[in-house]
Amino acid sequence: MGNGNDDRSGNGPGPAERPVYGYDSPAVQETYVSREAARVARFLMPHLRPGMTLLDCGCGPGAITVGLADAVAPGRVTGVDLEPGMIAKAKELAENRQVENVEFRTADITDLPFPDDSFDVVFTSAVLEHLAEPVQALGVIHSKLKPGGLVAAICTDWGDPLISPVNRAVGQFFELFERGFNHHGGSLNRGRHLRGMMRQVGFDVIEFSASFGNSSTPEIVRESVDSYIGWMDNLPLFVQSIELGWTDRPTLDSIKEGMRQWANDPNAFLALGRCEAIGRKA
Ligand SMILES: C[S@@+](CC[C@H](N)C(=O)[O-])C[C@H]1O[C@@H](n2cnc3c(N)ncnc32)[C@H](O)[C@@H]1O
Repeated sequence: MGNGNDDRSGNGPGPAERPVYGYDSPAVQETYVSREAARVARFLMPHLRPGMTLLDCGCGPGAITVGLADAVAPGRVTGVDLEPGMIAKAKELAENRQVENVEFRTADITDLPFPDDSFDVVFTSAVLEHLAEPVQALGVIHSKLKPGGLVAAICTDWGDPLISPVNRAVGQFFELFERGFNHHGGSLNRGRHLRGMMRQVGFDVIEFSASFGNSSTPEIVRESVDSYIGWMDNLPLFVQSIELGWTDRPTLDSIKEGMRQWANDPNAFLALGRCEAIGRKA
């Protein structure tokens, strides 16, 4: 997932060499290590049985993957991710937790290096929203599943966040983020389309739901806003938004300041949508 920027003049890796969503950054990688299968993939758990083979596409640092491995043990679990740094973290986690039925490797969800009909279950969380060709990726997943196998997908839907009190800076942040996703062929409003996308490649959609994860306590609101401010400082996507002329540094700084002030309001509430679906291969 390159970012199409040709500036290669800096010493370390500049924005041009970095993945546009910043998944090579240790700080960004760290934000995914506390995600647990029991919570994030709860909808999938009732479908898992010991001995199943499972693939996690875009596994990040492997926090969810190792929980899925526990659920299907002694079945084999494979986690793949485009970003080598994520895979290194995932391997470390599995070793530390002594999870033996899991392996991790670098691979692209649109070009999975496995024979057809290999897995009982394919899981993918917070990945399809990044892709320019999400239906193609679902088609690849379909081909890697055994007949009767299940895909379980989670996809962000941040199109209509619940924000109170209404705040211009918070709104501007989400608009800019969405614009960056769109520029690279992704979409933050894709969750609602999961059923249609899955059916397009032949899945029978057996479960589909949407929910709002919420930042209900003032502490969580502040933590979330701190993360967003960190993204604005670190993600090539936001650097690029200046280069593309969508915004400028003073405006980004004023958005950050406005968000900080908003997050300190004890009434502040923020909830973002996500959709999850399970499809069966005939
Ligand atoms: C938002 S993180 C989600 C990580 C994990 N699935 C979770 O839900 O906690 C998205 C992950 O997808 C990976 N990714 C993005 N595009 C990918 C692709 N084309 N193939 C494989 N992984 C990809 C990124 O490197 C990143 O680790």
